[in-house]
Amino acid sequence: MEELNIPTRCYDLTAMDEASRQKVYEEAGAVIRAGGTVVFPTETVYGLGANAMDPLAVQGIYRAKGRPSDNPLIIHVADRDLSGIVSEIPPAAVRLMDRYWPGPLTIIMKKDPGVPAQTTGGLDTVGVRMPDQPAALALIKAAGCGIAAPSANISGRPSPTTFRRCQEDLMGRVDLILGMDQSRVGLESTIIDLSGTVPELLRPGAITLEELRAVLGEVVYVPSATLQGDESPRAPGMKYRHYAPRAKVTLLRGTRQAVQLYLQTRKDEQTLAVLIDADGLDQNPTTSWSGTVFGPDAADSDPSVVRFGSVTEAAREIFETLRWADDQGYTGIWVEAVAETGLGLSLMNRLKKAAAYDVVEVKE
Ligand code: TXA
Ligand code: MG
Repeated sequence: MEELNIPTRCYDLTAMDEASRQKVYEEAGAVIRAGGTVVFPTETVYGLGANAMDPLAVQGIYRAKGRPSDNPLIIHVADRDLSGIVSEIPPAAVRLMDRYWPGPLTIIMKKDPGVPAQTTGGLDTVGVRMPDQPAALALIKAAGCGIAAPSANISGRPSPTTFRRCQEDLMGRVDLILGMDQSRVGLESTIIDLSGTVPELLRPGAITLEELRAVLGEVVYVPSATLQGDESPRAPGMKYRHYAPRAKVTLLRGTRQAVQLYLQTRKDEQTLAVLIDADGLDQNPTTSWSGTVFGPDAADSDPSVVRFGSVTEAAREIFETLRWADDQGYTGIWVEAVAETGLGLSLMNRLKKAAAYDVVEVKE
């Protein structure tokens, strides 16, 4: 990947009082207006932002990530005034915004002609989202423009949910990195396309398919349309490995007992097991992440087994876990599959990509 040698400035917002934070937002807003790049926290994952209306600034995002510039970006806004971004707001979008904005929901609508092709990957539609994160909203307001932002990772790596992971990937590649707590949701936003005749779910996230159907009625979700090769054998050349760590990820689908029996004969200390209590309630919804250490549940005596007490907890921690497993040098990661309903659909969507669709049915 091309070296950029940008003198990156980092600010840990958790260590600041409100007045100091405001100064940082002003500085970061000025960087955005001047065409620079700023990494910022959101409730889903950290974003790598630039002025959505400035084609050169948007090029800086692709350069930083090291990815081809044909991928459409989400425009982040601080309020519902979308003039200059979309050409019209359909009634269904208003209903969704009423209910879920600010929040982890990106809505795709017909774009305003003023939005540069670099931002939308040449499409005539644009994805818009209002993040539910005070620092993100303050930054967008200070910038005074929509901020185009993909996840703040080097292309192909798991999305970052902590300040530290953003620094790991993007030091020297962006102008500013703003650090906050661990992202509350941990998976990228739900994406719904309202530019056609029928609402279409393109990417499941924390706003679930069931919730969208409750608001809109019919919502189409065709996993194979967005997830090519679903359930098919591992693709040669890792073509589909999007959220991939270096370790080989394998999903195990079956009862907890069947999963444990399977692991007994196949798992060694070189590999990590991730068990998820799919029926567990979220015990710790407001966990604040220190960003320095990560490890298996302290109650567990085997360090190569990570347990999550709920799907919500697993969603919040999964990308960090994949990166941590690489740090520890694990060669493989076994992950217990969960039912593909609610947030489980979104978690499995990311896990299947990380596993290159390698799903083993385990039986007792
Ligand atoms: O939670 C999130 O959405 C995070 C945070 C930073 O907001 N952002 C994020 O961006 O995940 P990114 O670039 O990693 O994923 C954006 C996805 C891409 O898969 C892209 O293809 C799709 O959104 N997308 C964006 N605009 C689109 C459009 N007009 N039509 C279809 N897909 C679109
Ligand atoms: Mg991404």
